[in-house]
Amino acid sequence: MNSKVTPWEVQGEVDYDKLIQEFGTKKIDKTLKEKLLNKMKEGPNMISRDFFFSHRDLDIVLKDHTEGKGFFLYTGRGPSGQMHLGHVIPLLFTKYLQDAFDVNLYIQITDDEKFLYNRERTWNEIKKNSEDNIRNIAALGFNPNKTFIFRDSEYIKNIYPLILKTARKITFSTAKAVFGFTNETSIGMINYPASQIVPTFFEKKRCLIPSAIDQDPYWRIQRDIAETLGYYKTAAIHSKFFPPLTGVSGKMSSSIKESAVWLTDDEKTVKKKINKYAFSGGKETVEEHRKKGGEVSVDVSFQWLDIFFEPDDKRLKEIKEEYTSGSMLTGELKEILIGKVNTFLEKHREAVEKVDVEAYLYKGKLAKEMWDKNYE
Ligand code: TYM
Repeated sequence: MNSKVTPWEVQGEVDYDKLIQEFGTKKIDKTLKEKLLNKMKEGPNMISRDFFFSHRDLDIVLKDHTEGKGFFLYTGRGPSGQMHLGHVIPLLFTKYLQDAFDVNLYIQITDDEKFLYNRERTWNEIKKNSEDNIRNIAALGFNPNKTFIFRDSEYIKNIYPLILKTARKITFSTAKAVFGFTNETSIGMINYPASQIVPTFFEKKRCLIPSAIDQDPYWRIQRDIAETLGYYKTAAIHSKFFPPLTGVSGKMSSSIKESAVWLTDDEKTVKKKINKYAFSGGKETVEEHRKKGGEVSVDVSFQWLDIFFEPDDKRLKEIKEEYTSGSMLTGELKEILIGKVNTFLEKHREAVEKVDVEAYLYKGKLAKEMWDKNYE
């Protein structure tokens, strides 16, 4: 089956090398990896193990940083529902970048996009999701004085002229070609790409966007028009998709319930879901598994450990060897993952209880500055 990757849907088995070619991005090479690894104290394995694998102008961003010109970070979330692990991982990586480079970060909550895209959702639902998502995002521990989380519907009055300038540069024919809009698309969605592009213009510095590769089509358009508006072409660093429980290809998605672990899933639910749904690279019977061993490349539990949940390279290697040789069974591998996921979620829920959300919305230094700013 041919694969399809758009900001709204991922189908089939994703060939990431092919995507680099199709999208015209670059692979993160050894030199760039080393530069990032030298700076990052947390999350370096998301780089060293190639989860973040592709980029646009990351080399120039790092040069700007070394030369003292600086840069800023921008990422976002569409409040379509509650959040799952797949949403949190690029956000955490963004936090690690913010800590490493001590830079400003803007997080866009696209309530407009999610209301327009799906005609079933009420505005009230979107509002509730936004509040829930903002609290969960704030709990990830971004620097409160250098982070501004904003909702499009609320912040639009500060940026409307900039949205208009951006929208005027993009033809319907470009939007159709890039996003696949049809006659059935709501007219609001046709203008929406301007909203997602505008935060790349928040500072007269280069912007670096961490996200999964599905969001790249917006950055392609941004890069065509930015300089004509007097801004820099945006840079980006792209991750692969955090896989669904049901198999290592594709992406964990809100629309397929059994594919996801939600931030609200309690210990028992996590255990049940992983035991029931996590696709296993193990053999049919214990005897066969002991003889032939398991296959880590298709094993979802192993892949989750590799991407995020086992940061210790030495321990990961041991697990790989034990599983591949057959001395570790699928049930044992799953048990390791269940423990890690539950520890992570428990810590996260404690942070959600305690977080001062307003620090990111109105009270932090950057947040206060942004409410006084009106972009022309
Ligand atoms: P949304 O809410 O679909 O996704 C939020 C972020 O999570 C990434 N993502 C994933 N990453 C890894 N594995 C997955 N299974 C997975 N599912 C989603 C997305 O790439 C994204 O980074 N339109 C956007 C909101 C937005 C945005 C941005 C995102 C506005 N401005 C700037 C990134 C950067 C959206 O609906 O994302």
